[in-house]
Amino acid sequence: MTDSRAPSFASTLRRPEPPAGGLSRMHLTAISELTNDDLQFLLSLSQYYARLIASDAAIPPRLAGRTQINLFFENSTRTNCSFELAAKKLGANVIMVPVAASSVHKGEELKDTVQTLAAMGADAMIVRHTQAGSAQLVADVLGNARIPTAVINAGEGMRAHPTQALLDALTMLNALDRSAPQGLNDVTIAICGDVRHSRVARSNTELLPRLGATVRFVGPTALHPDANTYPKIDRFENLEAGLRNCDFVMTLRMQFERMEGALDLSPDDYYQHYGLTHTSLRFANPGAKILHPGPMNRGIEIAGALADDREVSLVLDQVANGVSTRMAVLDALLTEQE
Ligand code: CP
Repeated sequence: MTDSRAPSFASTLRRPEPPAGGLSRMHLTAISELTNDDLQFLLSLSQYYARLIASDAAIPPRLAGRTQINLFFENSTRTNCSFELAAKKLGANVIMVPVAASSVHKGEELKDTVQTLAAMGADAMIVRHTQAGSAQLVADVLGNARIPTAVINAGEGMRAHPTQALLDALTMLNALDRSAPQGLNDVTIAICGDVRHSRVARSNTELLPRLGATVRFVGPTALHPDANTYPKIDRFENLEAGLRNCDFVMTLRMQFERMEGALDLSPDDYYQHYGLTHTSLRFANPGAKILHPGPMNRGIEIAGALADDREVSLVLDQVANGVSTRMAVLDALLTEQE
């Protein structure tokens, strides 16, 4: 099987060289903690795994005998399953903790839950939580207990979703048929909609400018982040003006559960003004592509027909790239640490 959306350059079938001395971090809790060398290595390794999967070549079982624990305190389809698949493709054992049926519901503290699971011999713990800072808290708890488990943030609160940002960057690089070192120079990306409540937007806003891209926020002012944050990012309230000259449009799920009255628009009104459709996409550059991290609200932030149009929609490419990106993160953290 070949995949036309995987990068075509031949060097991606060679495993890239890690930074001298290995990855600078034991855990991945935020994009900001990665050095530029770490970032380049993770993206190059993601492209290598994307190409390897597309080529049907055998995948070296670099994590054979290792154990990953997925600990998700919040619902997930894409992240949870792709971390499981990524680990299994690399030969690791995976335990998906059934949080709803666990001793968490007997009142066990997060500290005790993660120490207990890690003490079973986990090499990696994948953590999703409603509270910002949870992944670092887990890393600190395990560090204090001298348990050498790598902690990976799988999305926490409104603050961070670093592997989503990495897979989004990979998707754009692949769509442009660029290698990681070529980066996203001269590329303009509109992040549209509910930026205020989005951990995906925050992690992407940390990552994409480091790859050379220009990022802008588009949506009603009530859904922009606080005015004193991200001072270098241009903000647009008008969709037509916001999409002008953009190469990629990343629209976000409207998080109605977090609105707390912030938005004075009904879902129908929102779709009228900000819904991404084939018609509104014409405001962007010819050939512009769309992304959505999922889950999508069809008919609210995006038209179903646009989401399903694979000429312009990279939504399923994002999902596929989630596997190769998470393979890269696991491989790098578990085999290339300093
Ligand atoms: N994009 C994302 O995090 O999706 P899930 O909530 O399904 O994992």
